[in-house]
Amino acid sequence: MPVIPRYLIFLFQVVLAFCFISFSGLHQSSSSSSFNFVQGKTKLNIKSSGIDMVHASHILCASNRTLCEDIMELLEPFAEDDLLRPKLERGFEELARKFSRCPTGKRNGGDLGYFPRGEMTKDFDAIVFSELAAPLHKPVGPHQTSNGFHVIMVHDRHLADAEMREQARIATEEAKKKREESFKRNMKKEQGKQERKGARANARQGERRPPASSKHRAAVGSHDEF
Ligand SMILES: *[C@@H]1O[C@H](CO)[C@@H](O)[C@H](O)[C@H]1NC(C)=O
Repeated sequence: MPVIPRYLIFLFQVVLAFCFISFSGLHQSSSSSSFNFVQGKTKLNIKSSGIDMVHASHILCASNRTLCEDIMELLEPFAEDDLLRPKLERGFEELARKFSRCPTGKRNGGDLGYFPRGEMTKDFDAIVFSELAAPLHKPVGPHQTSNGFHVIMVHDRHLADAEMREQARIATEEAKKKREESFKRNMKKEQGKQERKGARANARQGERRPPASSKHRAAVGSHDEF
């Protein structure tokens, strides 16, 4: 039966892309007022490290876009009023447990926990790290990624300090300009060197040129035209 292997491959893909990673030793340190994470043995403060972090849940509908649309329809009425947020979150968890094709649905009601930019797939990051694509506490979707259609809800988002990011951008641009200028200068220098070398070679050739027969002179003359 070809259905079973395909299903297994799909499950593998999903597990790899979304689940293993979010349990690989990333925990939010609970008692800090600033935003610190412990990753392995390294404590990260996202403001100073410049690392973007997000806390998101998702329901994976695989190829069934209609399922995602139906889920959105069920959730949207609860997203209109902040007072309904607890109901919205419980509803999301329930629907994730019932319908999500990602094991996080069963295990955590779709909750992927906190994760930094670069840990999930690029297309998933593009949604969860965008304030426009995924406003906080609002279910959004259907969004398609390489893993299929999702309904996504972002609970919390910490983007690296804008000022630091701007400083990094300016520094990168200045370095690039310097590199380009230095490259141009070196090219000019090298060109000059080659020209002088060529001139010296020509001069030497001229010195060594023997007083020759008219036949020889004609041959050298034609060579000089190059
Ligand atoms: C997709 O999901 C809908 C429920 O929203 C369901 O009725 C339909 O059978 C599903 N389609 C497939 C192909 O599983």
